[in-house]
Amino acid sequence: FHLDIDATETDKGTYPFYMLKEIDEQPIVLRHLISRYLPQDNEPQIGEGIINDIKAADRLYIIAAGTSYNAGLVGARMFERWAGIPTEVHVSSEFAHDQPLLSENPFFIFLSQSGETADSREVLQNINALGFKSLTLTNVEKSTLWREATYALPLIAGPEIAVASTKAYVAQITLQAILAYALADRKQLNLDLEQELSKIAVTIQGIIDDKETLQKVADDMLVPSQNAFYIGRGVDAAVVLEDALKLKEVSYVQTEGFAAGELKHGTLALIEQDTPVIAIMTQPSLAGLVRGNLAETQARGSKTFTIVTKAIAKPEDDLVLPDINELLTPLVSVVPAQLLAYYTSLGRGLDVDHPRNLAKSVTVQ
Ligand code: G6P
Repeated sequence: FHLDIDATETDKGTYPFYMLKEIDEQPIVLRHLISRYLPQDNEPQIGEGIINDIKAADRLYIIAAGTSYNAGLVGARMFERWAGIPTEVHVSSEFAHDQPLLSENPFFIFLSQSGETADSREVLQNINALGFKSLTLTNVEKSTLWREATYALPLIAGPEIAVASTKAYVAQITLQAILAYALADRKQLNLDLEQELSKIAVTIQGIIDDKETLQKVADDMLVPSQNAFYIGRGVDAAVVLEDALKLKEVSYVQTEGFAAGELKHGTLALIEQDTPVIAIMTQPSLAGLVRGNLAETQARGSKTFTIVTKAIAKPEDDLVLPDINELLTPLVSVVPAQLLAYYTSLGRGLDVDHPRNLAKSVTVQ
């Protein structure tokens, strides 16, 4: 563990870019979240009001934008499968102006690194006017979404400066996991969350320590490429959206994240000789299907890279992760994708921390 890293520092120190510093800080961010929200005996410290109000709701609505939306797609699976609460995830810019039919007793969770995203605020104002309760998970205490929601919890990831979000994604998934755990019947769930998150922190550190390997992959496969694909199924279909967003926003390689089974319904037409296709496979029940989809791209000449968990690894796989709770695998599998994005941007000679046309906090609709 690099305990010398202080995730609250705003100075990038010896790092060439904030993005790399913030990727490096992820194990310590996990540690901070564990000690704040799961200090002992796997007893989540969330606050009774939040737990009671969510338990009284018949449906959760997660509202967010960008990377925070992608984190919500992962969290929703935990609220449904661990806590048994039906959960929908919505892009705030859509929900604000094209609101779906709501359940009788909804509860809203806002995910926002900055706490200032105008689209998300618009939704919060709308639902406040309707008298519904809400919780904001944000990295910025006393931000607008923090102040205007019924409840708020801090992500305590420390300032995130690079435009491309990394440690906030990991913090948002972790805090949603702890919240879903607090809402679940923990005896039945049979999950030692503290131990699992600690193992994840160690695994992330291992990936970071071996980052030169990913730099080579980025240089060989992605730097020269015009486009790229990430594919996966189940929770990996959620994480590939974040993987693709990272790569496209910092490297300008046109990248799509795709539910692997959907490829054949159109997108397969884009696969040519040497098109990069990266597959994430963390769920044993789905790995065979994804391998089949990947083979279809290989038959059209794709260059592939596979990120898999140990239980399903084959000798030809490229990066093997240890076996962890299925719904928590995004915390680990996103890290190689963050590093691939970083090194592709670097290899293309771009300003990693300041991609063109983008802002860290978007306060216009
Ligand atoms: C901007 C940032 C993204 C971020 C999104 C949502 O587009 O560049 O990194 O994911 O806004 O921001 P929020 O602060 O609400 O999480």
